[in-house]
Amino acid sequence: MKVAIAADHGGYRLKEEIKSYLQSAGIEYQDFGCNCEDAVDYPDYALPVAEKVATGAFDRGILICGTGIGMSIAANKVKGVRCALVHDCFTAKATREHNDSNILAMGARVIGPGLALEIAKIWLGTEFSGGRHLRRVEKIKEIEDNQ
Ligand code: RB5
Repeated sequence: MKVAIAADHGGYRLKEEIKSYLQSAGIEYQDFGCNCEDAVDYPDYALPVAEKVATGAFDRGILICGTGIGMSIAANKVKGVRCALVHDCFTAKATREHNDSNILAMGARVIGPGLALEIAKIWLGTEFSGGRHLRRVEKIKEIEDNQ
């Protein structure tokens, strides 16, 4: 699995912790910034990750900002992206099983690094259930196609 990861200044430190986990787990990733805690604009970091996932160049994306909200809103503007804003383990699993979410957004000012890592592990390790959920995801794609 290839993971594209990015954060703004609010999520920079958590991004570095998630990267350490990806490295230790042998999961291939590419970091799309930012590279320090100087203030930046989250859409500039959401877009490259969203595009890489939408084109299939990367299987999944992880986006982190202060709340996760700005990153998730920006990423979901890109056709083919299903970015889920997750702050608990139950929805980390559910959004993979039900929504086939391909980008995980988290807020580093909302949850601590321990929970964020658990969420990332669950989200990366859970498969889409398909079946009736596939029909619903197909309907999301239809909405995109009709925009
Ligand atoms: C940056 O201050 C903050 O607005 C950003 O990290 C994020 O929370 C936006 O949704």
